[in-house]
Amino acid sequence: MSVRVAEPLRRRIENCYTIPMRILLVTNSARGEAIADALVRSPQKPELIVCSTVKSPGFAKLATELHVMDIMSLAKIVDIGKAAKCDFAFVAPDDPIGAGLADRLEAAGIPCVAPKRNLARIESSKSFARELMHKYGIDHNPRFRAFSLSSRDQRHSIELDIRAYLEHELHSQYVVKYDALKGGKGVKVSGEHLMTIDSGAKYAMECLEECGTVVIEEKLIGIEFSLMSFVSGTSVIDMPAVQDHKRADTGDMGPNTGGMGTYSDVSHGLPFLEPSDMQTASEINKKVAAAIEQECGESYKGILYGGFIATSDGVKVIEYNARFGDPEVLNVLPLLESDFVAICQAIITGNLTSEHVKFLPKATVCKYIVPKSYPVDKKEVGQKVMIPQEFPENSRIYFGDVHFDDTGNVLLGGSRSIGIVGIGDSIVEAEQVAQTVCEKIAGPVRFRSDIGTVDSIQKRVDLMHKLRAR
Ligand SMILES: Nc1ncnc2c1ncn2[C@@H]1O[C@H](COP(=O)(O)OP(=O)(O)O)[C@@H](O)[C@H]1O
Ligand SMILES: [Mg+2]
Repeated sequence: MSVRVAEPLRRRIENCYTIPMRILLVTNSARGEAIADALVRSPQKPELIVCSTVKSPGFAKLATELHVMDIMSLAKIVDIGKAAKCDFAFVAPDDPIGAGLADRLEAAGIPCVAPKRNLARIESSKSFARELMHKYGIDHNPRFRAFSLSSRDQRHSIELDIRAYLEHELHSQYVVKYDALKGGKGVKVSGEHLMTIDSGAKYAMECLEECGTVVIEEKLIGIEFSLMSFVSGTSVIDMPAVQDHKRADTGDMGPNTGGMGTYSDVSHGLPFLEPSDMQTASEINKKVAAAIEQECGESYKGILYGGFIATSDGVKVIEYNARFGDPEVLNVLPLLESDFVAICQAIITGNLTSEHVKFLPKATVCKYIVPKSYPVDKKEVGQKVMIPQEFPENSRIYFGDVHFDDTGNVLLGGSRSIGIVGIGDSIVEAEQVAQTVCEKIAGPVRFRSDIGTVDSIQKRVDLMHKLRAR
């Protein structure tokens, strides 16, 4: 005799007695391995069903199933999640989140730690983020205006408006932002990428033609940092603050990259920030989560990444992301003492409290190993990189754009290759751990030795003193 059991009850019975918890993880970089590593540390011993753009060596150990695929094939990801009867999904990168993967998974009965498309506009539309903050009185925007092209006839008059705004209101100190996801390549800053009013107006018009809206804002002067929070509706629990290094070369020179490395401090603040700056950033994240819930009529569930800049006029917002940063997540998740799966469950059920989240009081330094010609060229694609077998206990290595071939070789892709993290009782100690491991990696690769060093941190502390004294 067969007994029909309702599907949700059947899943619950199966999960309790036979099938272990299964989590669908969607990833394209080392960020995914840091997430996977934190999930499998859970006492709930989940199995991971991983959809990844690369066959990364890390997932050989961490994943029960690894699907190497295009992670913008949203329907295929939903099918994989359904076939594996996943209990929930974690979507790591911006593109599938922005395209609405959380909406599709949830419609298929798989709850998701990642915001739905409408709420993910906090990242996928720079004008939405700025206007949301303005509308809800979150007074930490730079001066800004969003320009939209509703008809071709307006082209000439908008261009004149843009020129006037750049010249007379922003006095040539401006930033032009493409109003959609562009893999970190949509923002151009005066004095760095754009040298004149003409080039600023030209780039703004290109953005308008391509995506219909452009944001132009005041160029802020200060030191950037990020504060990521776990968010479930209006419950917002912060992680340690992190500082990224975007420039390719030592001394913060050279072209911008996805991020060459990061550090976090024992206090979970940063050496150049006052406790009041941390407090302000934390309050802004809370206000933004509340504002987005009110604006969209539903709860934000996932990771909220506040990109801030400490200026002479206090903390301002550079941008918001709807996901963990890469490398920032490589710093924070190794310090997470609590059960990451329980945090994800609490985000989904709406029961998240600070009791769920405990981080070790340690410092971390992450240095990214990248191909020698990154980010300008991709000359090293397919070449071998040699990694030692043994690592110190207070280090972590997370594989990014590298491919594990059938003979066990690790081959470089064109993007950032391996995130090396050192953990210590001070940033200096953590830096030495990361540096020592980086030096042992052989192949046509490089990394920034200066990230997390005493000199490099002191430079930021001094600059912040100077700015505050103004
Ligand atoms: N208003 C601003 N003032 C000064 N610099 C800015 C401003 N907005 C962005 N930037 C610089 O440009 C970089 C990229 O901009 P951001 O808004 O973070 O976009 P994305 O990360 O999507 O490329 C920032 O990290 C910062 O260095
Ligand atoms: Mg950014």
